[in-house]
Amino acid sequence: LITDIRLRRVLDSRGNPTVEADVLTESGGFGRGAAPSGASTGEFEAIELPANEAIAAAREHAVPRLVDEVYAGDQRSVDAALRAADGTEDFSEIGANSAVAISMAAAKAGADVLGAPLFQHLGGAFRGDNFPIPLGNVIGGGEHAADATDIQEFLSAPVGAPSVADAVFANAQVHQEIHDILLDRDVPSGKGDEGAWAPSIDDAEAFEIVEEATDAVADELGFEITFGLDVAAAEMYDEDEGGYVYGDQVRDTEEQIDYIAELVEEYDLAYVEDPLDENDFDAFTELTDRVGDQTLICGDDLFVTNVERLERGIEQDAANSILIKPNQIGTLSDAFDAIELAARNEYGTIVSHRSGETEDTTIAHLAVATDAEFIKTGAVGGERTAKLNELIRIADDAA
Ligand code: PGA
Ligand code: ZN
Repeated sequence: LITDIRLRRVLDSRGNPTVEADVLTESGGFGRGAAPSGASTGEFEAIELPANEAIAAAREHAVPRLVDEVYAGDQRSVDAALRAADGTEDFSEIGANSAVAISMAAAKAGADVLGAPLFQHLGGAFRGDNFPIPLGNVIGGGEHAADATDIQEFLSAPVGAPSVADAVFANAQVHQEIHDILLDRDVPSGKGDEGAWAPSIDDAEAFEIVEEATDAVADELGFEITFGLDVAAAEMYDEDEGGYVYGDQVRDTEEQIDYIAELVEEYDLAYVEDPLDENDFDAFTELTDRVGDQTLICGDDLFVTNVERLERGIEQDAANSILIKPNQIGTLSDAFDAIELAARNEYGTIVSHRSGETEDTTIAHLAVATDAEFIKTGAVGGERTAKLNELIRIADDAA
């Protein structure tokens, strides 16, 4: 039984306050979870409140429904209590940041009580034994860095890596290789919010550099490394401008579909996230019809880990995979529902970090527990390596 919940403000990787929760149980179990935070958030995500407001509201409404009422290991009951305490569809009362921190902390306390690793508690005895391939953000811009590429993320995808550790090190090596290429070209570069290089170059040059870097590292390591994109096109889309704004160039919806389809062909992209606006299911359907058999077309802002939006996408074949971010929907149970619906309909799942992160490692366990195809959690930087190193440890334990 949960006997205490402590909530506090801690720092996220951007230096903003975020919600951390501790869950304690009668039998001495303990779990701690912290909410991440997006910058290029989807319009239809659950609501993140200012951390102090979210904490005050959760103390008032959620804590009394959980303490001495619910078992930490009974994740469905924990998350149902959070939903009941909030009373809205989008967690605007207690904040999705409070909800997800408590949901993750309870899961860890539940695992602690069982004496099982979190991935085992979440995935159960009959989970699959595949490991997710890490997608490494190696160069980018968009909302994650000023004056850099228009496309938000160029993602190294070590699809041929023999192990998860090899894949993690490959992405870090691609990240270093890109730095070397930028230095050779005399292009100075800082890093964006997720640790990717954020040089002031156009997208065409970024494609050239990422292709060169992934090829070089693949040659050296002897396995296949391709790459993918998070276009984050909702951030580019401007109705008044008539389409997708790339610097001083605008592509209308048909031109955007053509452009993405050409990129898939030219670079043999493994993965394309949010290539179109979050409101344009029809354009997604058209693109998926054209290149969905060659690549993963993934909905992030399109689906926001929301079962209703995913149902609509499935109905009209708008994509073939979904990004899973627990804080977009507020609880682990809701995220599981989206994963289950995706799996039943042969949609791939990609578990993902946010651009604002903490040292919390829950998503590494979630990805392993649910047999995710990929996990997107950066390539370098402490809040990213926290997850990547946890993946390495999980694989090591499982061996
Ligand atoms: P965000 O971006 O965490 O800033 O929303 C990540 C993404 O778009 O996938
Ligand atoms: Zn995205």
